[in-house]
Amino acid sequence: PTFPLYSTDEKAIPLLGFGTAEYPFGASIHTLKETILVAIKLGYRHFDTAAIYLSEQPLGEAISDALRLGLIKSRDELFITSKLWCSDAHHDFVLPALKKTLQNLKLEYLNLFLIHWPLSLKPGKYEFPFQKEDIVPFDPKSVWEAMEECQGLGLTKSIGVSNFSCKKLETILSTAKIPPAVNQVEMNPLWQQKKLRKFCEEKGILVEAYSPLGAKGTAWGTNRVMECEVLKEIAQAKGKSLAQVCLRWAHEQGVCALVKSFNKERMKQNLDIFDWKLTADESHKISQLPQCKGFPGAAFLSDDGPYRSVEELWDGEI
Ligand code: A2P
Repeated sequence: PTFPLYSTDEKAIPLLGFGTAEYPFGASIHTLKETILVAIKLGYRHFDTAAIYLSEQPLGEAISDALRLGLIKSRDELFITSKLWCSDAHHDFVLPALKKTLQNLKLEYLNLFLIHWPLSLKPGKYEFPFQKEDIVPFDPKSVWEAMEECQGLGLTKSIGVSNFSCKKLETILSTAKIPPAVNQVEMNPLWQQKKLRKFCEEKGILVEAYSPLGAKGTAWGTNRVMECEVLKEIAQAKGKSLAQVCLRWAHEQGVCALVKSFNKERMKQNLDIFDWKLTADESHKISQLPQCKGFPGAAFLSDDGPYRSVEELWDGEI
């Protein structure tokens, strides 16, 4: 398939990406490389990983194989995102963390490097869930400065954030020399992020939707999206799958969806969302669905940390 692209300057983001987060992290490492190769064969060109997922290495191996097998002619045909884990969210740890990520991926540069969460942990550990005692104060400005340095060095083409509220984005924007290109957040028909999307659109920040199908089967996901009656009815009426309706809906909202499947038929199906549309009535029905965040982030709260409640973590935008 030819992907619609979101363009800023010379940087184009394929508007559908393949996610690689599995929990417990690393659970499917042995199958991940093969799955990613299948994805490349099917036409996926955008891959999303993170230091904490333990999927950087298999992704790197899959990219090397894809080049060797001639599935792609050059690394430049791919759009690769990775994320800074919280224990590296300290000014002086950002560049070394990116270098380690590039080493894992066997790449010279990332297309996009994101601050994974607005949280810092004591350096040295890469684990989730983490010990609440390891949560330390988060200084977004100095971490962002280090992210800007990474882009300046050419080690990543763009920088951005993940799991940031409008308020936290404002904090970054108030001192940023380079504004975040992306905010990657949970988004699906049951958590539509209307306010955040409006804010990001005004600021020229692309929203990327993680858990576009509600991440069923993971520790942070639920079956609510895949079992939603309204979505089932729309899917049936259209002769599409419920997953396709979710992905098409995300696309029509102007965001980039990051979807994951380990099943070839479903991987193929998820790509088939660009040559049909939802009707105005279907979009309206989806816009009226009751909202409930699937992953409020209880693991990120602590009595002594920056966030004591989910309201504080998301600045009331929940
Ligand atoms: P599977 O790997 O067996 O296909 P999310 O992208 O929101 O994190 O959701 C990922 C989950 O959704 C995975 O459990 C994946 O399972 C499942 N999934 C992905 N694509 C589809 C699809 N087209 N139909 C049904 N389930 C899907």
